[in-house]
Amino acid sequence: MPEADGGKGEKDFCLDIPQETPGFFLKGSGSLDWGMKNRFSRIFRPETGRTVMLAIDHGYFQGTVTGLERVDINIVPLLPYTDALMLTRGILRATIPPTYKRAVVMRASGGPSILKNLSDEEIALDFEDAIRMNVSAVAIQVFIGGDFETRSVTNMTRLVDMGIRYGIPVMAVTAVGKEMTRDAKYFRLACRICAELGAHMVKTYYVEEDFETVTASCPVPIVMAGGKKIAIKDAFEMTYKAVQQGAAGVDMGRNIFQGDDPVAIIQAVNGIVHEGLKPDQAYELYEQLKNSK
Ligand code: R5P
Repeated sequence: MPEADGGKGEKDFCLDIPQETPGFFLKGSGSLDWGMKNRFSRIFRPETGRTVMLAIDHGYFQGTVTGLERVDINIVPLLPYTDALMLTRGILRATIPPTYKRAVVMRASGGPSILKNLSDEEIALDFEDAIRMNVSAVAIQVFIGGDFETRSVTNMTRLVDMGIRYGIPVMAVTAVGKEMTRDAKYFRLACRICAELGAHMVKTYYVEEDFETVTASCPVPIVMAGGKKIAIKDAFEMTYKAVQQGAAGVDMGRNIFQGDDPVAIIQAVNGIVHEGLKPDQAYELYEQLKNSK
């Protein structure tokens, strides 16, 4: 029986080289399907296993936030320095050039504004639209200990079910209510619940004490949330400590876009996350970049 290509020339089956079955670089993600791994490889750099994700989704419950008044002017210049951009679909379509080739992590929950109970959220995105926008992951807030804890957890598990169906990872964002203590004990609880119930990665806050126990006890990658604006040196210090203590990078917003020179700050953050710069080296780089304009 002739072969389809006519059998011209000698075929080389490399019989002496066994096919490799490489593992996957990202914690807890080895059993995911190809599409999920491929999307994860866009969010996290395979060379470092880490990401610099820029969070600009604040408007979904806060409206116009300082530094995000004009995303086209304030944020677009930062895009070349991001591995991923976390935002809402409205801002994506209205302001982000479709030539942006890095990963998009799409906010998929919403409902209440800052005027109401924030834990009263619903799923606010259809997966068909997520696919249409070619997103690399979707993100949802999870309110452990909040008034609507069960609903937010159930919303997350529904997203996880859909994410698995379509090969799109789900990032759970641990939201801390005002009445909750931001300590390692709380974040271990929140992150672990999210991962146990299927979240493919978790965004959570850094805590000075025992953060490494939060990352160690969460079986999927953790990215560090930036939180409210602090001094630049402190933000670099926090970033450094978080990645040294097991975070797979950052998902940072205000500490970048509310800074005096966001383009310089994000490059310094990249230095810490991907090149292992120490906080003082990152600060030096930031100063250099700032003063070279
Ligand atoms: C809230 O939890 C949202 O995800 C935020 O809008 C955002 O990600 C927070 O980023 P940052 O605290 O670094 O400004």
